[in-house]
Amino acid sequence: MLTWSDQFATGSPLVDTQHRMLIDKINLLEQMLGGPPPPKAKVDELLAFLGSYVVTHFKFEEQCMERARCPAHEKNKQAHAAFLGVFGKFKERYLAEGPKPELLKSLQVAAADWIKSHILTVDIQLKACAGK
Ligand SMILES: [Fe+2]
Repeated sequence: MLTWSDQFATGSPLVDTQHRMLIDKINLLEQMLGGPPPPKAKVDELLAFLGSYVVTHFKFEEQCMERARCPAHEKNKQAHAAFLGVFGKFKERYLAEGPKPELLKSLQVAAADWIKSHILTVDIQLKACAGK
């Protein structure tokens, strides 16, 4: 389980709210995988939400960094594109293989690790640019 804490704060309340939402959904996926196999419709719904929310969030955050002339802007864009590439490959496998627990677990672990290290290394650089 990921827990949002002040070390994740980016200086942008909206970005932080979006990060909290993403963390909640990744935690929800972890919870779903901890019990009996979840119905495919539930997994479909969660993945569709995550897939579209992450795109909206990335765009919003990139605009914030660009506006603030944050030096991490390019690195952030590249990291987002790389994550979308990984998510796209996962979706192809999901379509072909269905909601296999090990496939969903690999997404949940990868997404949890990625978002934690991404926020802590890249997104928090927005804090230093706030107010520019
Ligand atoms: Fe980011």
